[in-house]
Amino acid sequence: MQINNKPKLIIDTDPGHDDALAILMTLLSDQFEVLAITTVAGNATIEKVTRNAQAILDLIGSPVPIFSGFDEPLKRKLVTAVVHGESGMAGFDTSSTDCRLTQNAPEKMVELVTANPEEITILALGPLSNVARAIQLDSQFSSKVKQLVIMGGAIDVPGNKNRVAEFNFFVDPEAADDVFQAEVQKVLVPLDVCNTVILQVDDFRKVQNERLQSILIPMMEHFFGGLTSDEGTTGILVYDALAAYYLLNPHAFTLKAMDLVIETQGEHTFGMSVAEKRPHKVGKTNADVVVQIDDSQFRQDFFNILSRKTMTSLPDAAD
Ligand code: BDR
Ligand code: CA
Repeated sequence: MQINNKPKLIIDTDPGHDDALAILMTLLSDQFEVLAITTVAGNATIEKVTRNAQAILDLIGSPVPIFSGFDEPLKRKLVTAVVHGESGMAGFDTSSTDCRLTQNAPEKMVELVTANPEEITILALGPLSNVARAIQLDSQFSSKVKQLVIMGGAIDVPGNKNRVAEFNFFVDPEAADDVFQAEVQKVLVPLDVCNTVILQVDDFRKVQNERLQSILIPMMEHFFGGLTSDEGTTGILVYDALAAYYLLNPHAFTLKAMDLVIETQGEHTFGMSVAEKRPHKVGKTNADVVVQIDDSQFRQDFFNILSRKTMTSLPDAAD
């Protein structure tokens, strides 16, 4: 039996155009043993994001198993995104993709992490509902996770869902609050840094894989339309892909340790990630927050990785 020495990863996700880019980049890089993709209600309903996730895997012939989460956040009604369109991944018709709703994502996380203590990184690309439920299920879960890399939060920039909250924390603030109180090593990729890396649809013509390019271009046209009209951006923000890139090349990132709490009560501020900035209070920290990213290095690696024809780990990939 072949031993796999690659670092182990679970991707928790709500595809989502940028989730799709993150999943493709991570799998095509072939640098991780991806044990599971867990889906979470967020950008669209759990049915839609799970189908979208399966369609992305089918695109590159990936056999990674998918486990779906619940259909609601911990305590609130689901609010889906606008920028990704009704399907959650406008521009890529996934309606004929077969998928199964297992509704056991948190249980699966606990099972995998328990079987591989301190070995698994979780890349969390959606609301933190599954991760928080896993923490509730097993009091030892946090200490057994190697690292949690999260896309979410807005520290010193306006929110993209209400005035101050970023979408993933806005959708399930109670879950984000639980996770930030948990003793697990966290790296946070917030809106602040995501807003600095702006791509255009034409950039995706650099993807030297005709089939993938022909699927990504219409997807990115729709995402561009959604972001520019709903959020007033000047191009495509690839949020989750930056969080995935952190795993592939942490040297391209500058981090700052911070102490963060998540607002769950405020009428106008729920979902806000509130950093301790009072100089005399700074001491204890609970997350390493990305404050800078090497934009040109990211672009170069991102398009190179997406240009690979298929996953090199697949038996027929070398053909
Ligand atoms: C986050 O919200 C979602 O719409 C994106 O997929 C990303 O995870 C950005 O705020
Ligand atoms: Ca996402």
